[in-house]
Amino acid sequence: MTIELGTATTASQTKVLFLGSGELGKEVCLELMRLGVHVVACDRYANAPAMQVAHSSHVFPMMDAEKLRAVIEQEKPDFVVPEIEAIATETLLALEKEGHHVIPTARAARLTMDREGIRRLAAEELGLPTSPYRFADTEEEFRAAVEEIGMPCVVKPIMSSSGRGQSTIKSEDDVAKAWTIAREGARGGAGKVIVEGFIEFEYEITLLTVRHLDAEGKPVTSFCPPVGHRQVDGDYHESWQPQPMSEKALAEAQRIAKAVTDDVGGRGLFGVELFISGDQVWFSEVSPRPHDTGMVTMITQDLSEFALHARAILGLPIPNIHLHGPGASYVVLGHGKSDQPRFQVDPKGLAQPDTALRLFGKPTVDGERRLGVGLARGASIDEAKAKARAVAESVTVILE
Ligand SMILES: Nc1ncnc2c1ncn2[C@@H]1O[C@H](COP(=O)(O)OP(=O)(O)O)[C@@H](O)[C@H]1O
Ligand SMILES: [Mg+2]
Repeated sequence: MTIELGTATTASQTKVLFLGSGELGKEVCLELMRLGVHVVACDRYANAPAMQVAHSSHVFPMMDAEKLRAVIEQEKPDFVVPEIEAIATETLLALEKEGHHVIPTARAARLTMDREGIRRLAAEELGLPTSPYRFADTEEEFRAAVEEIGMPCVVKPIMSSSGRGQSTIKSEDDVAKAWTIAREGARGGAGKVIVEGFIEFEYEITLLTVRHLDAEGKPVTSFCPPVGHRQVDGDYHESWQPQPMSEKALAEAQRIAKAVTDDVGGRGLFGVELFISGDQVWFSEVSPRPHDTGMVTMITQDLSEFALHARAILGLPIPNIHLHGPGASYVVLGHGKSDQPRFQVDPKGLAQPDTALRLFGKPTVDGERRLGVGLARGASIDEAKAKARAVAESVTVILE
């Protein structure tokens, strides 16, 4: 068996087209570039991070079904790689039927586009443990759902990410507010919400799970050591690896991750989000692509989650995933408004050994935006965390 790869910019090129061009796509792009792949990056705005390291780019809204089809038909990529959730996924399903290769599958993009598809699959079809939940379309249904689930509960628009529109109801006073927050935070406005029972977890992890081919071309699943993380208002602020876990909890986490990713199928890296308490594990959600909390693997693993995604996409084997040692990531956030962000970097941060910094190159900020990440390895997780935080805090974001 052989895997054929072409040469970018020539007639032989192997072409990968990204739908969404953020910081995660940028790193996958770089990994593919290292293998001579031709990369086309798409996003709704010009000069998005991945576009800055791609061979060419297209600017259009990923929800625009006609544009999406036109660009894919024009580019004829070998692989279409969704990098965000909000895509015209019906078009991806149709294009896949016509012979296009969507990573990992068009169905994965469809199921994870909103919270309902993947939650129903995990809980109702696969019988995996999740928080109790109800969906609601109207304020009346929402109030009934809160009543049934009980307090505390978490409310999220089904179309949202990074904590947008999410809030926790602790008492009757929060109910009306939660509905407004969810309505205002929903992608594309309005839409359904999910009401979830609040899980009192000890810690939460992302289990980076890769579906790839072995040397014989057989599909296999590999796991990275678990990534622990801390979320603030539903948005990731720091992550570390490996998160210590009981053997039982790790086995259960891997079982759940394998069940979900096997069902979704295809090749690629997934971020399976799980809540853990003792030996008990709950499935929360899954990204059929690299995960923001997995940025820590850029400093902890020989093959980062981005390199693993690239290998899996191309059908190349992944015999092992080597962890260099405990590591951590800590985000650099910008708050304000600017179309020329600047960074004042105090060299003390990166003067610490075994540290790194990524600045994503996002050309504009309006509100709060993740602009970079500090990375570090240490003798212990605590040491790595402190170092990664010091790197991130050594960067002063100037927005004017
Ligand atoms: N049912 C829940 N119980 C407790 N915490 C939750 C629950 N749902 C979400 N959270 C917290 O909010 C974070 C973000 O929620 P998540 O469903 O992952 O939304 P997003 O798609 O925005 O990442 C989770 O990582 C977790 O910390
Ligand atoms: Mg999440």
